[in-house]
Amino acid sequence: MSDAVRLPTPADTYDFGRRLAQVLRPGDLVLLTGPLGAGKTALTQGIGAGLGVRGDITSPTFVIARVHRPDPARGGRVALVHADAYRLGDAADPRAEIDDLDLDASVDDSVTVVEWGEGLAEHLTDAHLRIRIDRHDDDTREVELDPVGGDWADRLTTLP
Ligand SMILES: Nc1ncnc2c1ncn2[C@@H]1O[C@H](COP(=O)(O)OP(=O)(O)OP(=O)(O)O)[C@@H](O)[C@H]1O
Ligand SMILES: [Mg+2]
Repeated sequence: MSDAVRLPTPADTYDFGRRLAQVLRPGDLVLLTGPLGAGKTALTQGIGAGLGVRGDITSPTFVIARVHRPDPARGGRVALVHADAYRLGDAADPRAEIDDLDLDASVDDSVTVVEWGEGLAEHLTDAHLRIRIDRHDDDTREVELDPVGGDWADRLTTLP
């Protein structure tokens, strides 16, 4: 487990996502955990900016996941799949629901970020990066990165 990083404002959350994107590549799975309103979507928006993908990244309300295509004009090279598994918790077999997402993009070719994915989406890849965001009483946030398998730990040492 890496040291926690303090994120005083939403702009810091966004910027952290942008910097994290610099070490992301196709096939990556990032699982975001943390309470309601922690800043998971805000972090994903930063990741999307760093990856140079198209479209507004919002909380998917009616869909479980959205694919954001890379925008070559913004230096984008890889698609971002943004999923929110919050409502899948009620499904009889939430993992099967994740597998059945008929996304027009594959995990191997994309960067996949799943909000509320802990315990549900780990099986999609051999390795993943777990990110926990916590909220302090003063409304600032703290983020902790937990590399699980693969070369995640090495890659995190190169985080800009
Ligand atoms: N570092 C920060 N300090 C203060 N506020 C922040 C910080 N990061 C994000 N926020 C704010 O927290 C609020 C909730 O953010 P966001 O929607 O990204 O949370 P979430 O974890 O995705 O929520 P949900 O659990 O509903 O999906 C937003 O208003 C956002 O601007
Ligand atoms: Mg969200």
